[in-house]
Amino acid sequence: MTDINTYFKNNKQRFLDELLEILKIPSVSADPNYAGDVAKMAEAVAQHLKTVGVDKVEVSKTAGHPIVYGEKIISPKAPTVLVYGHYDVQPPDPLELWESPPFEPVIKKTKLHPDGAIFARGSCDDKGQVFMHIKAFEMMMQTNSLPCNVKFMIEGEEEVGSKNLERYCKENKKKLACDVVLISDTSIIDNKTPSLTVGLRGLCYMEVEVIGPNKDLHSGVYGGAVANPINVLCDMIASLHDDKKKVTVKGFYDDVQKVSNKERKMMNEAPYNEKQYMKDLGVAELMGEKGYTTIERTGIRPTLDVNGIWGGYIGEGAKTVLPSAAYAKISMRLVPDQDPAKIEKLFQKHFEKLAPESVKVKVTAQHGGYPVVVPTDSVEYKASEKAMEQTFGKKPLPQRGGGSIPIVAMFDQVLKAKSVLMGFGLDSDDIHSPNEHYGLFNFYKGIETIPYFYKYYAEMKK
Ligand code: BES
Ligand code: MN
Ligand code: MN
Repeated sequence: MTDINTYFKNNKQRFLDELLEILKIPSVSADPNYAGDVAKMAEAVAQHLKTVGVDKVEVSKTAGHPIVYGEKIISPKAPTVLVYGHYDVQPPDPLELWESPPFEPVIKKTKLHPDGAIFARGSCDDKGQVFMHIKAFEMMMQTNSLPCNVKFMIEGEEEVGSKNLERYCKENKKKLACDVVLISDTSIIDNKTPSLTVGLRGLCYMEVEVIGPNKDLHSGVYGGAVANPINVLCDMIASLHDDKKKVTVKGFYDDVQKVSNKERKMMNEAPYNEKQYMKDLGVAELMGEKGYTTIERTGIRPTLDVNGIWGGYIGEGAKTVLPSAAYAKISMRLVPDQDPAKIEKLFQKHFEKLAPESVKVKVTAQHGGYPVVVPTDSVEYKASEKAMEQTFGKKPLPQRGGGSIPIVAMFDQVLKAKSVLMGFGLDSDDIHSPNEHYGLFNFYKGIETIPYFYKYYAEMKK
């Protein structure tokens, strides 16, 4: 029997080739036109699970996109790891900003990825990272070194708020029973600085509508006399932050947990070069809540951002019009102990109050999710720490991530299991943006690290 390192060396090219194939499937969950491709992707994941020896593989229909499940039970005495990930991807738009088509993966070298990176939608978020788990499992199976029971639950609706996964978990509690949930859908600090994600922000996503006159009007005939909903919406949005860039929604900060000075000091010791950060993004200055550093602003502080705003004439040339309505999508990132349901109500009330008599407003909630903090003194954290230390040669730093994975808090509540957030992407991998990519270094490092997690977790659980 070959040892795992030899098996890895002999098969790594095939691992990559297989990933490139599934990156060609445009599994965009947000757009109903791609529903067939999302279903095809679910089947491809199921097929890969079967091929590497996962038992009881099933593709479960939901009201939305399917959930792929499979398991390998080696012993009732062994600890059980539930691997969660998502096979759906964000829409690739704007297409014209991609240097190569989003679903035709190519490998190119970049400054941060001198060994090459795979450019394709979903390469990092999250197909590439899910695939690391399937290949790590294959390696353990083929080298007779799987020390834990494994359950895979790979969903197709993460990017649209995991609408049907909560119900699935509640209805399948027994089947999904596990000791820990293992997730690779986050970032490390850089390829020389491994980190484990110890916090995710929650989310509260709203859509607002500002309605003015009962039809579009001539902006010369009526402009200046009738409130313009776009002007009004801009005023309202501008007032959502004060001059210290604090969110003005009444009660917004009420439940925000205070982070100790010690923890703040620690998080600011992580490597971070502000000049480089600004240069990479092409901005001359950073902007955010006064009194907090960039790391704090994205890690431990709640925020409010407009994600999209529209209304009126946006076609070629100029059309003089006073539009009858204006719209915006507004998201708030939340931190412990903010409650998305409560924030939703506070925002709605605040926004309705902001509106002048001249317009009507309608506020609707899209989706939300609770924030997460991961303790660093648990067996599962220690096992993931040791696994990363083994393969990176350096102990990973605990780091709070700015993004959200809304379903993670639910794992805690419904499955009574803690999650390990051991992602291998970089924040600069352009997930959700044009030219998303995933480093070959990162892909392979993940495949090598995961078996160590199983090994140390099984040992420490004894
Ligand atoms: N994988 C990301 C979340 C993430 C990325 C966490 C990087 C930490 C670092 C996930 O797929 C995602 O994009 N989540 C969405 C939320 C969802 C409801 C659309 C997000 O954070 O915007
Ligand atoms: Mn993701
Ligand atoms: Mn995502």
